[in-house]
Formats: sequence, structure tokens, C-alpha cells
Amino acid sequence: VGTVLLDRYNRVATDLRVSLTDRCNLRCTYCMPEEGLSWLGRSDLLTDEEILRLLRIAVGELGVTEIRFTGGEPLLRPGLVGIVAEAARLRPRPQLSLTTNGIGLARTAEALREAGLDRVNVSLDTLDPDTFHRLTRRRRLDDVLAGIEAARDAGLTPVKINSVLMRGVNDRDAPALLRWSLRGGYQLRFIEQMPLDAQHGWDRAEMVTAGEILASLREHFTLEPEPESARGSAPAERWIVDGGPATVGVIATVTRPFCRACDRTRLTADGQVRNCLFAREETDLRHALRSGESDARIAELWRAAMWGKKPGAGIDDPEFLQPSRPMSAIGG
Ligand code: GTP
Ligand code: 5AD
Ligand code: SF4
Repeated sequence: VGTVLLDRYNRVATDLRVSLTDRCNLRCTYCMPEEGLSWLGRSDLLTDEEILRLLRIAVGELGVTEIRFTGGEPLLRPGLVGIVAEAARLRPRPQLSLTTNGIGLARTAEALREAGLDRVNVSLDTLDPDTFHRLTRRRRLDDVLAGIEAARDAGLTPVKINSVLMRGVNDRDAPALLRWSLRGGYQLRFIEQMPLDAQHGWDRAEMVTAGEILASLREHFTLEPEPESARGSAPAERWIVDGGPATVGVIATVTRPFCRACDRTRLTADGQVRNCLFAREETDLRHALRSGESDARIAELWRAAMWGKKPGAGIDDPEFLQPSRPMSAIGG
């Protein structure tokens, strides 16, 4: 390993999040409009080989120890199982995980496990079919539920469930989601809605806060904070439910930012490094790859990109501006 991905604030990025496509088969209202977005073209996307070269550099030269595949919806990438299998051959072997909406996971969970995937996170905002339709604009709840079960049964554990609550839509669903997660053995986390939607419709006053979510859960469960030491660099703060051992998490990017402990670096499906989910600048590794630069030069560009990481997301700054790309194109 050469020099790690360090920034000015002494954070080291060891967790790489790789977006494999900007496309999606759902249309969550907090993410994208009904008509979808103008997707990246084929030649914009990194090829499987290009992705694998960057993963090799990240693990071999830059000290990355965990790789998360995201989207858009990463199960829509035809080469996914092959990419996972190759990533599992890297040394030192990185931890491999996937964040998905669960559609099609029932069909691929076993193959992903065999390829070397360690675990999955699945988005699920409600258990009610009509609410699911209203939120995602698709009637696919059963596919998602089947995917979650298949992932658990294939051993892609712990299966973490991500829920975003929208006021007036599913903000009363938190206790039911927790009850269901406890029964299924899933690790549930609620996520505060972030200003990363393509429509720029985020409104802080409308956001369901961590405080509100915890209050609504406390009407039905006892919650004890997990010791601070258990958190590490995880975005989720966790509470022990009804005496344990199960926990519930809250990812409170807006009201309780965790940027000080951030250990992430990101790669978009078109080969741009981002040093933060909310970064305003990107570093073009695709161009470097396609103009024949060496591994050492690419590693150097990546290090320089991370050095410029801002101390925080800056959502509370009066001058805050959403990044120019939405979450679906950045990778969640
Ligand atoms: P694990 O708990 O290790 O599985 O990671 P995770 O919770 O980050 O994974 P996941 O991909 O499921 O992301 C859950 C939520 O956290 C999503 O809404 C992400 O957008 C958000 N998230 C991921 N990384 C960051 C980050 O660097 N900053 C912020 N603010 N949010 C993040
Ligand atoms: N704010 C918070 N979470 C979001 N996600 C997608 N868009 C947003 C947003 N604007 C969630 C998805 C998924 C995870 C990767 O990010 O629901 O669970
Ligand atoms: Fe697709 Fe995820 Fe966006 Fe929903 S939040 S539309 S599942 S990319």
C-alpha cells in the first residue's frame, strides 16, 4: 500500500462507494421525477474492466478496505456478479456490500453470495402496498419483500433496511417497520431526507427529523442509546430496542451530522471521484484511464481529490447549494 486517502482534517477514507449505474426501476418521490432523468450514455459509463482497475488501485495502493456497490439501482448493471467476483479476489480482501432497492434480489442473492458479496442494505419505506406505490410510483412491494428474505436466507447478513420517512405519506409507519424488522431479524435504520433529489424539492421544514422518529418509536418500544464506542465511523446512530440485542438506527445527516468521522470516498458510474456526498467538485478518473495514465498517476489524482475534502456537508450554511448531480447519479 502506498499513501492512504487522507484529507486536511486528518480523516482517512477506507470505505469506497461505487455507483454502477445511474438508472433505477423505481421513482421514489424524494429522489427523482416520474419521467426519470436523462441517463448516462453507454460510453459515459466505466466498463467492468475500468471499474476493476480502479478497485485494484483503491485496494492495492490507497488502503481501501471496504467496497460498497450502489446506484441508481446496482442490480440493473448486467456485469454486477462478475464485478463482485473479481473484487473478492483483491488482496487484502475488501469487505463487499451492496445497497439496493431489492427488486430482482430474490433472483440474484445466491449468485451474489457465491461471488463473494458479504452483505446487503435494502431500501424499504413502508409495508403498505398503496403507500409503497405512492412513494415509489411502482407496485413492486412484493418483489422487494421477496428480495429481502432471499438475501437473509442466502446469508448476506446482517441485512440492513433503510427507511426514509415523508411527512403525510409514511411518517406513521416507523413502529410497524420496526416490529417487522425485529421479527425478520433485519437491522432497521431511518434516514433523514437529504437535499439530494433531482427536483430540488427538499424543504427542511417538511423533513421528518431524527427526534420525531425516535419519539414515535418510543410510544411502542424502549430505546437505550448504544455505547458511543460501537459506532465508529458509521453514519447510523443506534439504539438498543426493548433491552436488546436488536437495535434500531437513525442516519441524521441534517440534524446530527457525522462528517467528523467520515471515512468515505466515492466513484460515480462515469468515473468521477467525489470526496463527499455533498461535494461540488469531482475529479475525472475516466479521462485519466482512457488517456493511458499509469496506476501511480491515477492513485495520485485520487489522493489529491480527497485532500480537498471539506470539513462537512454544509447543509446549515446560508450559502448551501445542492450538488449539481442528484443522489441517484452520485451513489447514495
Ligand atoms: P453501512 O451501515 O456500513 O451498511 O453503511 P451505510 O449506512 O452508509 O449504507 P447505505 O448505503 O445503506 O446508506 C444509508 C444512507 O446513508 C443513505 O441514505 C446514504 O445516502 C447515507 N450515506 C451514505 N454515506 C454517507 C455519507 O458519507 N454522508 C452522509 N451524510 N450520508 C451518507
Ligand atoms: N434523502 C435521504 N435518503 C435518500 N435515499 C435516496 N434519496 C434520498 C434522499 N434525498 C436513500 C434511499 C436508499 C439510500 C441509499 O438512500 O432510500 O435507502
Ligand atoms: Fe431508485 Fe433509490 Fe432513487 Fe428510489 S431512492 S428512485 S430506489 S435510486
